[in-house]
Amino acid sequence: MFLLLHRWIWRDPERCARKLFSFAETEADGGRDLVRAAELTQDPTLRRLFMVHAADEDRHAQLFRTRGSQLLRARPGRASPPLELNWVSPGERGLDDLHVHTETDAGLLAFLHLSEKAAAGHFATYVQALKGDPPTSQVFKEVLKDETFHMNYTLAQLIRVAPNGHGVILWQARLGRLWKAYLRLMSGIAGIMGAVMLTIQYFILLPPFAFLAKRAARREAPGWRQIPQDRASNMTSQF
Ligand SMILES: [Fe+2]
Ligand SMILES: [Fe+2]
Repeated sequence: MFLLLHRWIWRDPERCARKLFSFAETEADGGRDLVRAAELTQDPTLRRLFMVHAADEDRHAQLFRTRGSQLLRARPGRASPPLELNWVSPGERGLDDLHVHTETDAGLLAFLHLSEKAAAGHFATYVQALKGDPPTSQVFKEVLKDETFHMNYTLAQLIRVAPNGHGVILWQARLGRLWKAYLRLMSGIAGIMGAVMLTIQYFILLPPFAFLAKRAARREAPGWRQIPQDRASNMTSQF
């Protein structure tokens, strides 16, 4: 059932291309944050790993961008682009939420581990869902290998830097992700409610004003009207 939904989402080549472009942005942004994390850490092993990780994310961005461009070139654009539905089938979500300046090494590793694990799960589903589009499926397969490495090295390093407290740190990161998911959901619901309220206002509040404006227009005499002489000479008024 879940796979069928993803098959349907990815079946439209234009939606697929647009999703790949937005995934590419997240990957590139995450890569830049990881370079910053490499600059900030005092741990030489983490610095080297963060740089490798950043280079991987940059390569993913290029892969997604290239495949997205190929898909768009293969078919003319539509007047109204399809919805990306990224809330159902997201990219490497989490990389766009990195706070490298405020996190400790352990906190950052826990956050990265959970994000990479979630991304690996999503990308494995997309490999299956895109069986009908082998080149795009291959892109996800290639990216998935790196995400699995990211997921594993972040956990191994978390255990190294926090041998006693890594379980607690992971739970804290999990709760943080849950809170962010809740905020995303609530802002989505607020957006829908806002659209519904504005639509209701449009159909309930505007018609009386439109009616009054039309009635006032009907009462106006057509054509030019002569105005009194004293008003014509008044230089401070338009009428
Ligand atoms: Fe990635
Ligand atoms: Fe990654």
